[in-house]
Amino acid sequence: MPTHVPQLTGRVHVAPDRDELYDDLGSALLQAARQAVQERGRFHLALSGGSTPEQFYLRLVTDPRFRDLPWGQTHFWQVDERCVSEEDERCNYAMIRETLADHVPMRHRQKHPIPAMSERPAAAYEHEMREVFEEMVEIPRLDFVLLGMGDDGHTASLFPHSPALREHDALFAVNEGRHVTPPARVTMTYPLLNAARRLAVLVTGGKKAEAVRQVEAQLIQCPNPVELPITGLDPIDGELTWYLDAEAAGSD
Ligand code: 6PG
Repeated sequence: MPTHVPQLTGRVHVAPDRDELYDDLGSALLQAARQAVQERGRFHLALSGGSTPEQFYLRLVTDPRFRDLPWGQTHFWQVDERCVSEEDERCNYAMIRETLADHVPMRHRQKHPIPAMSERPAAAYEHEMREVFEEMVEIPRLDFVLLGMGDDGHTASLFPHSPALREHDALFAVNEGRHVTPPARVTMTYPLLNAARRLAVLVTGGKKAEAVRQVEAQLIQCPNPVELPITGLDPIDGELTWYLDAEAAGSD
């Protein structure tokens, strides 16, 4: 099947199938983790929910090639969470815990679920992140952020036309209202995402091909984060890489 490589911001990596794509993404993650630990002694990893990354998380814990991931020096963060309890099947952290976090040798204090049911979850999570980073920087730099993309071009819980798109200061925002698919969400904002060292967007399956095509068309003209929030990803001093399987890339 001829491989189509869409023109998107940053690097675009297209693999023939999901299996190879997970291999490539896992290798990139391992490399980033090793580099972070070597240079800074810690690896700050942020993970998304949704159905796309589940198989990838399982692969990370079962494939011997990824056994050397430095879990002992890793901190897990969440890209976004639904404002529901951990017992609710829509809870992203429950999925991340079941597929990955419960199966890797990490101490409790290295895992940072979003306190989605607390009174001021966005502020509380920002406070926790700033305490762990200990650096007096305006915006902490995450080492590797794994993102997905919805059919409507949302990423994290940044939905088209939603209020969190306008957050320019805080690291996290509660996103709710008529433009947000319920329940309310807590999400990373553009300032935090775009400060990261690496952003990886994982998109798989033919059902996402149309969204990828729309993002490509929009980016060729000019990014429009209000209509297609994923086009607002624009790392200041980091790398953005798209990981697509051939179906999502629109190969025929
Ligand atoms: C979430 C995500 C979200 C997700 C996209 C794609 O909590 O749902 O963080 O941004 O990545 O909605 O979701 P799917 O992988 O289920 O298509």
